[in-house]
Amino acid sequence: MSETLRIACIRGDGIGPEIVDTAIRVLEKTGEKFGLKMEFIQVRMGGASIDANGAPLTDETIEICKGSDAVLMGSIGGNTSTSPWYQLPPEKRPEAGLLKLRKSLNLFANLRPAYLYPELSDACPLKKEVADKGFDLLIMRELTGGLYFGERKTITENGERKAIDTLTYSESEIRRIAIKGFEIAKKRRKKVTSVDKANVLDSSRLWRSVVEEVAKDYPDVTLEHMLVDNCAMQLVKDPSQFDVVLTENMFGDILSDEASMVTGSIGMLSSASLNDTKFGLYEPSHGSAPDIAGQNIANPIATILSAAMMLRYSFDQDEAAQAIEDAVSGVLQDGYRTVDIYTEGMKKVGCSEMGDAIIERI
Ligand code: IPM
Ligand code: MG
Repeated sequence: MSETLRIACIRGDGIGPEIVDTAIRVLEKTGEKFGLKMEFIQVRMGGASIDANGAPLTDETIEICKGSDAVLMGSIGGNTSTSPWYQLPPEKRPEAGLLKLRKSLNLFANLRPAYLYPELSDACPLKKEVADKGFDLLIMRELTGGLYFGERKTITENGERKAIDTLTYSESEIRRIAIKGFEIAKKRRKKVTSVDKANVLDSSRLWRSVVEEVAKDYPDVTLEHMLVDNCAMQLVKDPSQFDVVLTENMFGDILSDEASMVTGSIGMLSSASLNDTKFGLYEPSHGSAPDIAGQNIANPIATILSAAMMLRYSFDQDEAAQAIEDAVSGVLQDGYRTVDIYTEGMKKVGCSEMGDAIIERI
């Protein structure tokens, strides 16, 4: 890693620019405090890149990301019913850029922690007796395989249109994500719940058998298997039962939105997408929320916590990461709330004010 930490920044679309700008300010303050030199290199992806370059992701952007130590991203995409981006063929739409970037950088492991801050238990939609138990889980989502990257086509057969998506997983793809899952479980509460649909899908049956093989190397980690439909139910019934939830791409996409919502707001959840090196792409788990873009009301916390994950996983700066995480807890304790997590009696603040409050506490 170069002495100056080179961070490629994709501000993206919708609320992306405001949350990334706020997270960069937090990183700058953290850098000052901990003596870290950082350089932020702005690149475009998604709708912003379509508008500027006619494509959601250019080779130049990929090269800049590859040449950096990490990528910090906001969110991409627009309103799928009204934005002109969605009149384009699928491979030219904003999301295609994100998928191509994940694949080009080989970011196969997507970590999505979901943690209930005690201060936000009022915003948690679960029954009080469930919320009071708290929870702290991490979804380990496979990110470069499965339905997202299988062959797909729409054809006309016997006079009607027919669409085909394919769900493929190889043993090696399953093994490498399972290893990541067990490695992280070892440092947490030592439990892996592997989620699949093995009662129906071949890909899930292979998943289950490879995960069991990997588990043999981690005798101190407990492995359980859970069917995805049951997992969706258990996440609202008793999320405290989960530590690491290991799952394939599509299931992980769906379950991580659900997990984030039970924390009170999708605006709180960070994520890291990693390859086999220290390199990673860090982005909030939520989308670009075009309906509230540019109003300075978005919650920047998920992006700020993603920046903390970047310091921890890509730069080994645990202390600096902890300082950001503590500052986030601090502002919540002090009653600062963006509108998505607001409850009566709290201090309602906008995106940049939330950033200021966090910066003050670093
Ligand atoms: C996510 C998003 C993306 C995904 C979309 C924008 C393609 O929902 O990161 O969860 O489905 O992976
Ligand atoms: Mg998603």
